[in-house]
Amino acid sequence: MSAAKENAAKGALEYVEDGMIVGLGSGTTTAYFVELLGKKMKEEKISVVGVVTSFDTEILAKKAGIPVMPLDGKVNLAVDGADIVKKEYVLKGGGGALTREKIVDYAAEKFIVIADEAKADPNATYPIVVEVVPFSYLYVIEEMKKLGLEPELRVGGKKLGPVVTDNSNFILDCVGEVKGDATEFEKTLNAIPGVVENGVFSKFWKIIIGNEKEFYEF
Ligand code: 5RP
Repeated sequence: MSAAKENAAKGALEYVEDGMIVGLGSGTTTAYFVELLGKKMKEEKISVVGVVTSFDTEILAKKAGIPVMPLDGKVNLAVDGADIVKKEYVLKGGGGALTREKIVDYAAEKFIVIADEAKADPNATYPIVVEVVPFSYLYVIEEMKKLGLEPELRVGGKKLGPVVTDNSNFILDCVGEVKGDATEFEKTLNAIPGVVENGVFSKFWKIIIGNEKEFYEF
């Protein structure tokens, strides 16, 4: 139970309106949002359809009573967590769901990032995550090194070998900095053959931070 994560989720809930198609991110902070959204729909008798970003969130949405639909192009609002937040960009991918997250979050008319205060600590660090086609991973590792990053293949906790994403790919956790302009860096990473998507998200509408007592806009 994290009051800070729940408060961040409450902040985003205020932007949900009847009839919306809402992109549902992945992770523990988003899990609070999904639960609260399910309650809001019942209490206020509003109808919302979710577009999920992972199998994990699909299960949570069904549990919360939120109907889900495939991405057909239109998403009114997306709400998603982050591992690090900065004014210019956020880093995501801790849950390995970054590719579907970026598709849904960027497809949305408005994308709100929700995070607990620890994610906004200027001293906090997190690897730059990239999802790669398995065939390419050794090549991509070398390309990442050329960018000054230290990549490591993510391995599973309750399964031997590499983590395999919802898209049947591998994940590289790359220790290092976002260099220069975040939007350009995001494009540079995606231009490497074999990279499916990266965890630098430089396009969002607002960031809502939660702490033990309240939420506020970053
Ligand atoms: C998953 C993500 C998550 O949004 C990110 O890792 C934050 O997770 P949490 O809310 O559990 O801290 O990017 O790919």
